[in-house]
Amino acid sequence: MSSTAQIGVTGLAVMGRNLARNFARNGYTVALHNRTTAKTRALVEEFGDEGDFVATESAEDFVAALERPRRLVVMVKAGDPTDAVIAEFAPLLEPGDMIIDGGNAHFADTRRRERDLRDQGIHFVGTGVSGGEEGALNGPSIMPGGSKESYASLGPMLEKISAKAKDGAPCVTHIGPDGAGHFVKMVHNGIEYADMQLIAEAYQLLRDVAGYSPAEIADIFRTWNTGRLDSYLIEITAEVLSHTDAATDKPFVDVVLDQAEQKGTGRWTVQIALDLGVPVSGIAEAVFARSVSGHAALREASRHLAGPTASTLGKDEAAAFADQVEQALYASKIVAYTQGFHQIAAGSEQYDWNINLGEVAAIWRGGCIIRAAFLDRISSAYEAQPQLPSLLADKSFAKEIAAAQDDWRTVIATAVTQGVPTPAFAATLAYYDSLRAERLPAALTQGQRDYFGAHTYHRSDREGTFHTLWGGDKTETES
Ligand code: 6PG
Repeated sequence: MSSTAQIGVTGLAVMGRNLARNFARNGYTVALHNRTTAKTRALVEEFGDEGDFVATESAEDFVAALERPRRLVVMVKAGDPTDAVIAEFAPLLEPGDMIIDGGNAHFADTRRRERDLRDQGIHFVGTGVSGGEEGALNGPSIMPGGSKESYASLGPMLEKISAKAKDGAPCVTHIGPDGAGHFVKMVHNGIEYADMQLIAEAYQLLRDVAGYSPAEIADIFRTWNTGRLDSYLIEITAEVLSHTDAATDKPFVDVVLDQAEQKGTGRWTVQIALDLGVPVSGIAEAVFARSVSGHAALREASRHLAGPTASTLGKDEAAAFADQVEQALYASKIVAYTQGFHQIAAGSEQYDWNINLGEVAAIWRGGCIIRAAFLDRISSAYEAQPQLPSLLADKSFAKEIAAAQDDWRTVIATAVTQGVPTPAFAATLAYYDSLRAERLPAALTQGQRDYFGAHTYHRSDREGTFHTLWGGDKTETES
């Protein structure tokens, strides 16, 4: 077996197969391996004319087919299957070789794997790959972690196969060491959940309050997609809402079971945010909204609960309300991204990754599920002010929210009075109001904690730690 392949892909399900094809189409010789060899043969039979593939059947042959330093892309399910593949291949590798994990692995697993393999001189590169099967084939947004040395070897190849932003820039950058890439991919998915939930709430309001049909709402989303909400998720929402179910001739969205599933990356985002103390309330409400939708028995048992008599608007009022919903959607989207980028900054500090937030925004401009014109703005904001404490501290975003806030509040108030659940809209507005509040009721919380648990408190008028003798004469002591 001559060692001619610049890259190898093991795990030839849809994502792995399309990544392999993408590398081959871009002129690389690609070694192929899959646990069941039929998938390897099928790929070559169907797509062999797209480039140079080296089909292999054994782990040994797969490794032997790779030029040094060897670059193995692992595209198998996150968790134990990834550990199993590493255990199979690591003993066959030599110092300087690379294992690139392109699955949605938990970043803590990636940090463990990177540490374990580093002792063998092998570079483990946990890599977020976003864009689904289409992205894997035609250009994903790619978020590699791992060592600088591995990126020196891999980077040019990833830049060639990645999506390109409108300015031609490749949607890939070295995110940072060890698990930084998978951490950023995780937060990408958290933001994706928030984006999708906010769109879902906007849809429900246009349906229940404005009284529009799915097809009419699709047209509204198409119009929004020509403006500041221009994005992949808005674009596909119009496609989904304008689709008619062939079996029933009803709107597709009306025949789909309204119970959202989740593979887990959005959930991880919230769990890690809780550990880091980062308030990602918009993302959290998106995860919980999926959970609520899945509790069918609980929902059935609650169907009788009283609510307001919903009333739909007249034609002119409906059009005006739709414009207000656009304002609310954009304002809440700014907050959801603000929270996501705060989490990336907090993770970077916690794990000493030195992540460049402007570069993260820049590589999300194309290929990934949250790709949007909006990310050009975020990228520019962080390039202009790398130490920006929050996107809301950027003057242009703050100005846009100021212009949107009256409509934002009206839409949420309308949702509340009409009984339409908008948890992500409400949570993002509450976050915005909490940040700008002069005083928060957390002072009362501190008093309560000191009262029942003597947990002490600080004062806003002087330094120190205090406790009040609630059970006695209520004098204040300083500890
Ligand atoms: C991407 C997507 C992808 C994700 C699926 C399913 O960036 O290409 O985020 O990685 O796994 O969209 O995610 P859920 O099942 O969690 O919705």
